[in-house]
Amino acid sequence: KNIALVAGGYSGEAVISVQSAAVIEKQLDSSKYNVYKIAISRNSWTYTGADGKTAEIDKNDFSLTLNGSKVTFDAVFIGIHGTPGEDGRLQGYFEMLGIPYTSCGMVTSALTFNKSYCNKIVAALAVVNVSKSAHIFKDQPYDAAALLQQLRLPVFVKPAEGGSSIGMSKVTKAEELPAAIEKAFKEDSQVLIEEFIKGRELTCGLFKVNGQLTVLPITEVISSKEFFDYEAKYTPGVSQEITPAQVPDEITQRVQQTAGVLYDKLNCRGIVRIDFIWEEATGKLFFLEVNTMPGQSENSLVPQQVRASGRTLQEFYGMLIEESLR
Ligand code: DAL
Ligand code: MG
Repeated sequence: KNIALVAGGYSGEAVISVQSAAVIEKQLDSSKYNVYKIAISRNSWTYTGADGKTAEIDKNDFSLTLNGSKVTFDAVFIGIHGTPGEDGRLQGYFEMLGIPYTSCGMVTSALTFNKSYCNKIVAALAVVNVSKSAHIFKDQPYDAAALLQQLRLPVFVKPAEGGSSIGMSKVTKAEELPAAIEKAFKEDSQVLIEEFIKGRELTCGLFKVNGQLTVLPITEVISSKEFFDYEAKYTPGVSQEITPAQVPDEITQRVQQTAGVLYDKLNCRGIVRIDFIWEEATGKLFFLEVNTMPGQSENSLVPQQVRASGRTLQEFYGMLIEESLR
């Protein structure tokens, strides 16, 4: 089968996408799949072969012409974090062309990618606690003092549509809020400001094959930085990631069960990783976010969880492709 592995994208996470795609490419079973890696940037959608040959994608039908013959794809493995691979844009494009792809559908991708809207939907599902937050827009005036009347410090300030903690700050003093908001607005025109929850960060990858949900072992992330920021996420040794998490069984079960309910209620497809904070002092579980194209780099969490579940990455990526073709 011909599989297009798309990598790159336009966001600050493009670098991570290239690392994820390298892992995916290495692990895809070459006896089953002809993998064509395609780098997507704002200006070009370009295939580069092992021989160094390049070709541009024809966006009319997502095909390539190589050595005079046309190559079409049986499925697309979406290896892009952020826009346009995790936010519904490519999903909508492939849906229009009728080409199967490995991720959640267009609406689920778009909805979950926007952390503010996703918080509202998840809160309405009433299966997990959601931190109190405000959603502000670059082209609409906001009042920092009023925000601080509504929300208790510390708060996290995040681009609503972003990832890998890029543009994100933890604000502990009122006077730091405007600068943190400006920083987040550099990444996105919408910003989420949410109350900090003191607790332990737990994350759970899960996927469905033929209607059967597999919930992977959960990971606890312990950052030696102020929070699990970009450096802590991708510099080996700056954070500890423990899989399976050393927490009471009851907590593991609650995380896995909640993740399963959210996966279904948000109509997810393919591999998704849902992040939570367990507030140890109260025993409450808080929702953090849904990642519909979770990192697959050597330092990422899902590959660790897959290995801890006793599967190889080759089996796992093969299952995602076969599911997209179903
Ligand atoms: N956004 C990064 C890639 C992750 O969720 O792993
Ligand atoms: Mg994320």
